Amino acid sequence: MRPQEIIAVKRDGGQLSRSEIDAFIAGVCDGSWADYQISAMVMAMFTRGLSDEEQNALTYAMLHSGEVLDLSDIPRPKADKHSTGGVGDKTSLIIAPILAACGIAVPMISGRGLGHTGGTLDKLEAIAGYDVNLSTERFRQIIETCGFAMSGQTADIAPADKKLYALRDATATVPYIPLIVASIMSKKLAEGLDALVLDVKTGSGAFMPNIEDSMRLAEAMVQTGRNFGVRTEAVVSEMGRPLGRYAGNICEVYECVKILRNEPLELAEPTRELSLELSARAIVLAGVEENIENARTLAEAKLGSGAAYELFIENCRLQGGDAESIPTSDPFGGKGLTAYEIKAERSGWLEMADALAIGEAVVEIGGGRIHAEDSIDFNVGFECFAEVGGEVSEGDVLGVLYSRTEEDAECVSGKLRAAYKIAETPVTPSPLVHGIV
Ligand code: URA
Repeated sequence: MRPQEIIAVKRDGGQLSRSEIDAFIAGVCDGSWADYQISAMVMAMFTRGLSDEEQNALTYAMLHSGEVLDLSDIPRPKADKHSTGGVGDKTSLIIAPILAACGIAVPMISGRGLGHTGGTLDKLEAIAGYDVNLSTERFRQIIETCGFAMSGQTADIAPADKKLYALRDATATVPYIPLIVASIMSKKLAEGLDALVLDVKTGSGAFMPNIEDSMRLAEAMVQTGRNFGVRTEAVVSEMGRPLGRYAGNICEVYECVKILRNEPLELAEPTRELSLELSARAIVLAGVEENIENARTLAEAKLGSGAAYELFIENCRLQGGDAESIPTSDPFGGKGLTAYEIKAERSGWLEMADALAIGEAVVEIGGGRIHAEDSIDFNVGFECFAEVGGEVSEGDVLGVLYSRTEEDAECVSGKLRAAYKIAETPVTPSPLVHGIV
């Protein structure tokens, strides 16, 4: 069948057969479908919709457009965590070593930050020398040695998604759940997992800001994981405010190391709590513990004993990273950065610290990227000083932006001031975890 005939089926609201979807994805990969035909097809899918069968067939075709890792010779259950992305969202660096310390193999293939959300690969690259471009062979060796490896997607993993995502981005067809599910799950399922825990964010800094959409996305991803034989669960978590104390790159690594070393760090408790929640769910799904209470106790023990931290250090060494380069105190100190303080304009209760505005400010001062090819300043970032729901007095510092220049700070100062809202009466903050699917 010619591309235009397959496009016409969806344009007219018909159901695509498995072989038509296979032909579409084959055409995306071998170049026999032109970009305008692929774009027309995704637009038809977006406007006419995809049934569950079509969504599964699309995920399957995209997954098998490339290599599927076979880690069956590693005698451990294989599990991973995936987040839909947020601001200050740094739990991967804590969860991977916790799971490894529990005897789980974690083949973590991550992405870079784009727009206001950060990316695990960027945070890792903030550690001097840390290599996120591992060959499949090296990736496997590192998992065998320390239980987990963290790497970028090779050209062989779900190659159809790379092309499709770029065209969806350019044609305003990203925000459609079946296309998102096929895109995310084709990459995750290529890791050859037994278990997958998804952290679906909700709130202003999330990819899907409203709770109903976040829940629907979580349900669709969980169902797809299960359809492919992977035990999958999703935690829908709060992203209306940044997670934890820091948003940036090396500052987020610092927060993770403080948690891994069991050292006190104010306002970092949500990061620790969410990491333990997601770890515990992955531990049960991987079959290491039977119930969530025991899994939580095990995860806390691996964190508390320093076992997870030791594996983090070993992983750094194996991936070429210099753990000594991670700051041991103030992560913004000694770098010649300018500190811009956001102060409470009146007394009351902190109602909002808008994750989207804070994430955008960090990007605008160079801590993230607007275009995929932009380079990043790992040292700039944002530090939260007040907790949403907490009482504040006029003049209190609510947060500090650390930028290279005063001009950089000035450009985003209005946005940052508007990110904070103070109520006259006590407010109840949204829960960290909204639901489990
Ligand atoms: N992230 C992805 O990898 N794909 C999407 O479609 C959306 C977010």
